[in-house]
Amino acid sequence: MSEDTVRGDLPVGHDSASSGDSADGIDARRTAVVTGASSGIGAAAARSLAAQGFRVVCAARRVDRIEALAAEIDGVAVPCDVTSEPSVAALARAVGGRLHVLVNNAGGALGADPVAQGSVEDWREMYEVNVLGTLRVTQALLPALEATGEGVIVNVGSIAGGLVYEGGAGYTAAKHAERALTETLRLELVERPVRVGEVAPGMVQTEGFSLVRFRGDRARADRVYEGVVDPLVAEDVAEAITWMATRPAHVNIDLLVIKPRAQAAPHRIHRRT
Ligand SMILES: NC(=O)c1ccc[n+]([C@@H]2O[C@H](COP(=O)([O-])OP(=O)(O)OC[C@H]3O[C@@H](n4cnc5c(N)ncnc54)[C@H](OP(=O)(O)O)[C@@H]3O)[C@@H](O)[C@H]2O)c1
Repeated sequence: MSEDTVRGDLPVGHDSASSGDSADGIDARRTAVVTGASSGIGAAAARSLAAQGFRVVCAARRVDRIEALAAEIDGVAVPCDVTSEPSVAALARAVGGRLHVLVNNAGGALGADPVAQGSVEDWREMYEVNVLGTLRVTQALLPALEATGEGVIVNVGSIAGGLVYEGGAGYTAAKHAERALTETLRLELVERPVRVGEVAPGMVQTEGFSLVRFRGDRARADRVYEGVVDPLVAEDVAEAITWMATRPAHVNIDLLVIKPRAQAAPHRIHRRT
């Protein structure tokens, strides 16, 4: 049995006769978990990691989407809501004892109200998914990451984790907190074989981000990207994530900021007029 052998105990849609299986039916690929794999950056990261030979565990709430993706990339679909303890515990059981890469990507923004009018409920929800979701999944999977002796955690933060903009306080507060978690964890793990980093994208035109932020208001969501000269797409960030996750075991990428050329700062964007 290979040093890197991993057996998930609750796979959905995994074909045991797949290309990664050895003659004795054991999957010898290294394993990656991607949360929020049903859309946008998470789905692209799952595809990109699979293309590099990982067996990818695709976790999200929309089961039909992760099952289709898992079938496409010969991965595993695990329904998971990162705001639920039992759901995250089930994810950890499905992953098993050994894990190489964890991409904490599930997250997003809700609303764009000024602080004076901001919805406490929206703020709570953003903190719950971006910060506490990352905390829960990390806590649950840390033993498996450590067991391989070369684990990597890539948290999908944002430039909003280091900067603020008007109307963005609920989201920027959550992404600042996620960055604090990332940087603290790196300090705490310095004597253990797990690396911790953040990819911090600027504007990425994904399927869900602005649509979720504006609660399905398509016209408002589309205005975010209107006239922007080549915003990033999910695949740009996915490539960065895969690069971070595939460095040699002694290399830790602390923070990778990635923005479209047309975005000098969150609010300083070149738009075609
Ligand atoms: N797009 C941007 O401009 C941008 C910029 C910087 C950073 N980011 C960050 O990138 C990450 C991905 O965003 P995206 O642009 O790809 O948006 P997206 O297309 O809306 O994808 C968000 C993903 O998060 C998942 N998710 C949300 N709540 C969840 C929960 N409670 N449990 C499990 N999964 C959950 C969603 O899956 P389900 O709904 O199926 O659960 C979906 O797969 C987020 O952390 C976001 O903050 C985005």
